[in-house]
Amino acid sequence: MSRKKKPAVQRYHDRVARRYDASYDDVYWRFHDALTWDYFKPHLPADLAVPVLDLGCGTGKWAMKLLSSGYSVACVDISGAMIGKAKLAIEEQGRSQRAEFFQADLCDLGDVPDEAYSFAVAMGDPIGCASKPGRALKEIKKKLLPGSILIATLDNKLGALEYYLKEGSPKQMADFLKSGRTHWLTKEKEEQFDIHTYTPREARTLFETAGYEVLEIRGKTVLNFNQRHFRGLLDDSKNRMEWMKIEKKLSRDVDAVARASHLQIVAKTPTR
Ligand SMILES: C[S@@+](CC[C@H](N)C(=O)[O-])C[C@H]1O[C@@H](n2cnc3c(N)ncnc32)[C@H](O)[C@@H]1O
Repeated sequence: MSRKKKPAVQRYHDRVARRYDASYDDVYWRFHDALTWDYFKPHLPADLAVPVLDLGCGTGKWAMKLLSSGYSVACVDISGAMIGKAKLAIEEQGRSQRAEFFQADLCDLGDVPDEAYSFAVAMGDPIGCASKPGRALKEIKKKLLPGSILIATLDNKLGALEYYLKEGSPKQMADFLKSGRTHWLTKEKEEQFDIHTYTPREARTLFETAGYEVLEIRGKTVLNFNQRHFRGLLDDSKNRMEWMKIEKKLSRDVDAVARASHLQIVAKTPTR
């Protein structure tokens, strides 16, 4: 990466990398991650010999899961501190020999080999945090073999409406609805990176315009257990299983998807 001023998204993630895992260590995120892995399963490649990509890998949560399942994984992140954490965690897991690391912006994946990967995940919205999400998708497509699956999450634009209502400014709401752009709410101005948000229909268009076939759009999560008021609902393990069944059913309901906090898109690169 060049020596220019660090982009805000990199600054922010470099600063929080050390305590990132601790801030996602609670009952909601365990519920969320269990759903994520269940949603991956039907799309995982049968062939373990071809490596896969973890894009915006952060501290390596999904890379480690994929490594444990027998895949070789290339981890990509714009933040050097995040890559450092992922590397350490994978070393501790004893699986470094099947892992590669690239510090790179998803909009410029020049160092990552072309048509070398059979599957990719981009969890926690790294594509929506890229300066040009459409360009990031095209870059990712170049790295995947024809007919490969990319599973990515985006922030749901409709999930942000309440925030703008609370702000109380119709102008801000109108601007947001037009651009879909919001920014990460962190105090430091230099760390306030833009996030591109999408409605389910806009998400489909984004992927299709970049040349993918959209196979599935799920909401994650549709039931907003992440709100302080509802968090306790997941404490009871028996009820948690019942909530999970309901959440999974709603996640695929085209109408219910619109009220989810995030959208999870399964897309396929063209076959030759
Ligand atoms: C919310 S974290 C998610 C981390 C991990 N995927 C997970 O699910 O735990 C988003 C990650 O994407 C990375 N990221 C954001 N924008 C990026 C970009 N343009 N290129 C590469 N990585 C990016 C951040 O540095 C951060 O590590």
